Amino acid sequence: MTMELKIRGDKMKKVAENIFYAGAQVDGGFLFENQYEVPEGVTYNSYVIMDEKIAVLDTADGKVKEQWLSNIEEILSGKTPDYLVVSHMEPDHAANIGIFLNKFPNTTVVANQKTFDILACYFDVDLSGRSHMVKEGDTLSLGAHTLQFFMAPMVHWPEVMVSYEQKEKILFSADAFGNFGKIEDIFLAPGQEEKWQEDAARYFFNIV
Ligand SMILES: [Fe+2]
Repeated sequence: MTMELKIRGDKMKKVAENIFYAGAQVDGGFLFENQYEVPEGVTYNSYVIMDEKIAVLDTADGKVKEQWLSNIEEILSGKTPDYLVVSHMEPDHAANIGIFLNKFPNTTVVANQKTFDILACYFDVDLSGRSHMVKEGDTLSLGAHTLQFFMAPMVHWPEVMVSYEQKEKILFSADAFGNFGKIEDIFLAPGQEEKWQEDAARYFFNIV
């Protein structure tokens, strides 16, 4: 299996034309979900699509708040995000939603009904006038890019949703196809395929 992320700048990673990686990572030495050893650390994924409308996909873990916000700001380059797509309310994807929505008060949250229900339990933010509820198969045009949403209930939690970007044919898959480890080890170092598969299997059986 060959994987590649093209790196642009120190932190900013270009996944495809106008689609950027904004995630951040931590060293090991703690228990993921308080039970799984992660000696190689963990990567918390988040993405930004820069188009006529700008969409941020997920907000990463509280442990990487500063790095994630710095990545987001670098990618946005002073622009304001139109949408925050929430795929999964587990805190490793969603811990920074409150901070993000306070920082960008005009950003609309895109999520399904269950996600909005859980979000209201986790964050004290007023979403009136800034929520866009989606259901199976709905699409959201950003300009050249279009996101299509598919429900993936119990791919870890009941509210999980994945987003498919039609132009570049990229699936933003929430916990599905997740893995442990740091992204440079997983994707960027040569000869890591076997380790990638071992950790992917461990993630699949324990988390998914
Ligand atoms: Fe999860």
